Amino acid sequence: MQNINAFKIEVNGKILDYRLGQDLDLEKVRKFFERKYKVVKIWSEGRHVLGYLEKNNRELFLKLATSEGIGAVTKIEHDWNDAFNNVNPRAKSPFWVPINYDSGLFDNNLFYLITDKFEGKLLSNGPSDTKPLKVLPISLEDVIEFSELIQSLEIKNLNPYSQAIKINHQDWFVSKTKTWFESIPKNIQKEYKLHELLKIVKSGVWRLEAKPRHGDFTPWHLIKLDDRNLGLIDGEHAMGSSVEYYDIGYFIQRVFSVLRNPELAEYIVSLLVGRKYDLAKLKVILSARAIGGFLDESLSQNPDYLQADKFRNWVVSL
Ligand SMILES: Nc1ncnc2c1ncn2[C@@H]1O[C@H](COP(=O)(O)OP(=O)(O)O)[C@@H](O)[C@H]1O
Ligand SMILES: [Mg+2]
Repeated sequence: MQNINAFKIEVNGKILDYRLGQDLDLEKVRKFFERKYKVVKIWSEGRHVLGYLEKNNRELFLKLATSEGIGAVTKIEHDWNDAFNNVNPRAKSPFWVPINYDSGLFDNNLFYLITDKFEGKLLSNGPSDTKPLKVLPISLEDVIEFSELIQSLEIKNLNPYSQAIKINHQDWFVSKTKTWFESIPKNIQKEYKLHELLKIVKSGVWRLEAKPRHGDFTPWHLIKLDDRNLGLIDGEHAMGSSVEYYDIGYFIQRVFSVLRNPELAEYIVSLLVGRKYDLAKLKVILSARAIGGFLDESLSQNPDYLQADKFRNWVVSL
């Protein structure tokens, strides 16, 4: 796999990759957690070993990082869960994030996180599930309100590794977007005129206030728990001081380009307009995410830039 600067995290002076995992010996993992838990099920899924555990009749969820770099972002998820639940207790809100139960190191260097287990339906299973979407379209108002809640929270000191702490949120956002841009093959940058998108970001970023974000706010990280409550998992990219509209902009791009559903993406924008959102601000986020979309595509096995280009053209026309 390619070595890409866009997926690096600096921890105590060391530069680590948070995208590339490794295979772990599942039997060894099982034995380790059996010392304290009943291990119901354990499996490997990409960057983590995941599992269902039980303790005192409580069902729990295990997320074990398979590299030190992945561990660094999994630790951010741990800190996000704590920060969110401290300022937004479950009894008071329909919007839930997992509650931390335990955490530590496996094999002295791999971070693991144990939280409560969410039961319910994901708003989407992701791109491979081509069945018509049922829960997602009827949950959109809640999704928007969840993103608004996150922006309204007083969350500080999250993600100690983030460059955003050292520089202001706007400079950080431009530099992050540039890293995505520079990780895209030169010929693709040129062919799809990606510098035009970068220009929109650079010239419009002054509009964006500093706000907290979840950072990976997608339909496949949102779970309809019951008639009232919506759960949000996987806060590895959470930040206390990101740019406003980041989460909902990211969500729109995921719906458009990954779920390949431009109509639904447009519908979300119309809901935001109804809520008096500032389209000029949204356009800055979507332009950055359009660059991110080209990067995602360039990393896939057989890059096909059609959907990324459709998204690009839609964003530019907004
Ligand atoms: N708290 C939880 N309760 C139940 N299932 C969960 C929970 N957290 C994650 N999952 C399941 O595990 C999958 C991967 O979790 P995720 O946090 O997205 O890991 P990754 O960072 O590796 O993408 C999710 O798609 C979901 O099905
Ligand atoms: Mg995930």
